[in-house]
Amino acid sequence: MKKTLTEFCWVLFALSFAAILGCAQQDTTDKEEGMAAVRKAVSEMTATTGNNASGTVTFTEVEGGIRVEASFTGVAEGEHGFHIHETGDCSSGDGKSAGGHWNPAGNPHAGPSGEMRHVGDLGNISANAAGDAVTDFVDPVLTFDGPNSILGKGVILHANMDDLSSQPTGAAGARISCGVIESVE
Ligand code: CU
Ligand code: ZN
Repeated sequence: MKKTLTEFCWVLFALSFAAILGCAQQDTTDKEEGMAAVRKAVSEMTATTGNNASGTVTFTEVEGGIRVEASFTGVAEGEHGFHIHETGDCSSGDGKSAGGHWNPAGNPHAGPSGEMRHVGDLGNISANAAGDAVTDFVDPVLTFDGPNSILGKGVILHANMDDLSSQPTGAAGARISCGVIESVE
């Protein structure tokens, strides 16, 4: 009788252990599924009235932030301010329907490495003599989640260089290309 009880206890112990392992495994699986859910968005960029700058900006969630890959054609040679704006609306022809820089915290304008900056402050993109402008970087401030999310916001490429300090928009001038950030699976 005593032996049977010991065996019973061992079986109970083994079953509990298996159950705990099973729960831990389930946890991991749930997390992985959560990670895989979002995590990419695209802004198709269309030239504003009288301009030729068009292209694509892809946002992908990566370790440490969001990777921004942008590619434009039809851009005048030189540096061009590149921002996320607060409204995903390019309907006005001049891009002004996209509103001001996306700035949920009410910070001053700055560059992408500024300690205080607009969420949308992505600095400049350089175009070559052929009119091609390409960039690829990871931004630690951008997010797809919560009140700072960039989903549904606008993207603007400007005629001039963002000086990264003039308020409120870096004196980057007219808006030559506009797009809306849309989630893709
Ligand atoms: Cu802008
Ligand atoms: Zn700004």
